[in-house]
Amino acid sequence: MVETKQWKEVKGPLSISLGITALVWLLLFVVVILDPTGHHAGSNELDQAASSTQTLPVTGNAQGPLQGAKGAVKSSGYTPERPRTVPFDFSYAKGSDDLPLDRPPLAKIASEVEPEQIHIALAGEGAMYISWATGNASVVEGLPRIVSRHTLASVVVYGNESGWYDGVASGEATAYVQTYPDFSYISGTFHHVRLTGLQPNASYYFKCGDPGVAMSRELRFATPQPPGPAAFPQRIGVIADLGQTHNSSATLQHLIQSQPPVVLLVGDLTYADNYFTNGTLRPPMTPPKAYQETYQPRWDAWGRFVEPLVPMMVVEGNHEVEADSAGKSFQAYNARYRVPHAESGSDSPLYYSFDLAGSHILMLGAYADWGEGSEQYRWLVADLAAYNRSRTPWLIATFHAPWYNTYIAHYKELECMRIALEPLLYEHGVDIIFAGHVHAYERCNRVYNYTVDPCGPIHVTIGDGGNIEKLYTDWVDQPPSNCPLPGTAACPTLQEGSFCPAQQPPWSAYREPSFGHGILELASTTEATWTWHKNQDSVAVASDTVKIRRNLQCTNQQERRR
Ligand SMILES: *[C@@H]1O[C@H](CO)[C@@H](O)[C@H](O)[C@H]1NC(C)=O
Ligand SMILES: *[C@@H]1O[C@H](CO)[C@@H](O)[C@H](O)[C@H]1NC(C)=O
Ligand SMILES: *[C@@H]1O[C@H](CO)[C@@H](O)[C@H](O)[C@H]1NC(C)=O
Ligand SMILES: *[C@@H]1O[C@H](CO)[C@@H](O)[C@H](O)[C@H]1NC(C)=O
Ligand SMILES: *[C@@H]1O[C@H](CO)[C@@H](O)[C@H](O)[C@H]1NC(C)=O
Ligand SMILES: *[C@@H]1O[C@H](CO)[C@@H](O)[C@H](O)[C@H]1NC(C)=O
Ligand SMILES: *[C@@H]1O[C@H](CO)[C@@H](O)[C@H](O)[C@H]1NC(C)=O
Ligand SMILES: [Fe+2]
Repeated sequence: MVETKQWKEVKGPLSISLGITALVWLLLFVVVILDPTGHHAGSNELDQAASSTQTLPVTGNAQGPLQGAKGAVKSSGYTPERPRTVPFDFSYAKGSDDLPLDRPPLAKIASEVEPEQIHIALAGEGAMYISWATGNASVVEGLPRIVSRHTLASVVVYGNESGWYDGVASGEATAYVQTYPDFSYISGTFHHVRLTGLQPNASYYFKCGDPGVAMSRELRFATPQPPGPAAFPQRIGVIADLGQTHNSSATLQHLIQSQPPVVLLVGDLTYADNYFTNGTLRPPMTPPKAYQETYQPRWDAWGRFVEPLVPMMVVEGNHEVEADSAGKSFQAYNARYRVPHAESGSDSPLYYSFDLAGSHILMLGAYADWGEGSEQYRWLVADLAAYNRSRTPWLIATFHAPWYNTYIAHYKELECMRIALEPLLYEHGVDIIFAGHVHAYERCNRVYNYTVDPCGPIHVTIGDGGNIEKLYTDWVDQPPSNCPLPGTAACPTLQEGSFCPAQQPPWSAYREPSFGHGILELASTTEATWTWHKNQDSVAVASDTVKIRRNLQCTNQQERRR
């Protein structure tokens, strides 16, 4: 048996008086090294970039009378868009290889004791998680028996002025072994510290590491404005299925230029499971094994690659499952990232929620049980029951695989999840749903149960991060012979007698296979703008823009009596 060590960190020497600590730091780090890329400083400048939104030309209503579902008031104030398709531009390649492991930004340049792969995530009101890696990750032949590791302390020193750290917090460290019969992976150490009592809408400067051994350079983050009905505007970057290719890099650079103060990554992070355990790329048609082969050093590489994205909130996709030959799943995802699941009453990092300015965001687990009677279902019911629309008027949900999708890839794959959860989300008036998984872009009109519905959420598939599996360019209806057979589908729902629509259905507003990212700007309690930015354009260009108005006539949008 292989043992994965998990231990509580003993407090580092910095648990001495704060005043002395600050003085020590001032003396030790006379030269304050600011992040030369400036990536970590992006948060406060977001307002400059927020102004260039286009007005959506509202197209004619070709749908006829709108069908409202039970319990929701029908509204005349909503006109769905006429479906539009933009085919793939074949002057581009559908994808590219992963970036090389031995060159920046993927290569390891830190020593074994220096913090690297620094990650920041929201951790509940007034709180932030700081995570980083140290140590010697290694791939070893066969099953490792003994894992010995230097236990470095997990400490963050921080303050609201550059170079002056009057706060100190310590946390915990963890590690894992990804076990395979041929080549196993022994991870480095992952450190996680939760900073609490932070002022809202403020900048903080910090260093992380072991104060007795090595600390990071100074980094910066900005806390969001306090949640509440006046917390507007708020911009949110949205990506999914990122990977680590040349296209992923283009997405990342564009996203950084868009300067969102927070990023949501809706599953499928590294694509380390596209490799054999020896680091060789696995050809697409390789027969599957009882376990999922992966090359875990790709996780470390990805941790370096995405370091500029802060804070970033992740939720799992299918590529995070990674069941090894010892039967352990989600090891890399769980060890490397911290999400505020305990803070939101969830007992699993695979699903959680958080408030961000005027929004409540549900990060749902498509790869955890979601059926009625599951832990997740119970948690979601409780989370929605406690949701206060007056406090955070926008209700946003994300999960990895889309419920509304007209591409052939993953068509109706999570139809059972839709049937299980859609009524609950509809009843509580979810405004927008983001998904990934399908490597392309698609935005829907307001929809419920496959019918355009003025009180239903807008679904967006943003699985166009640029990963190694390339773009998906074909639709089930173009031509209709593309439609897969419902044969093995667990929930083979039909519409008007068919598994697939015969043409782009009325609920699909816009679809285009291209890589890019999205920006949601919540402007007020009722108005928001969503823009989609393709990698081949400058970030000032939005290839898809939609003004989203909350429809207050819908009873599911109104404050619930409790
Ligand atoms: C992906 O990246 C490659 C290499 O930079 C480029 O040739 C290709 O056109 C890109 N594809 C898309 C769809 O952006
Ligand atoms: C890295 O590996 C060396 C040799 O196995 C070991 O002495 C050292 O403690 C390790 N460092 C860390 C930080 O784990
Ligand atoms: C920084 O924090 C201190 C308290 O630790 C507070 O007195 C001061 O006003 C803050 N400065 C800024 C610029 O927010
Ligand atoms: C946040 O801070 C900026 C300047 O630092 C200020 O202009 C803005 O009004 C603040 N917002 C809130 C909600 O406090
Ligand atoms: C890596 O493993 C695969 C699958 O076992 C094998 O086909 C390939 O030849 C190996 N590559 C190297 C460089 O050993
Ligand atoms: C809901 O939020 C509003 C606005 O923040 C607040 O006034 C009200 O007390 C909250 N209601 C509950 C039940 O907490
Ligand atoms: C959704 O529509 C189907 C018919 O297409 C119907 O059988 C089903 O009951 C509807 N579900 C809900 C929750 O309204
Ligand atoms: Fe996926």
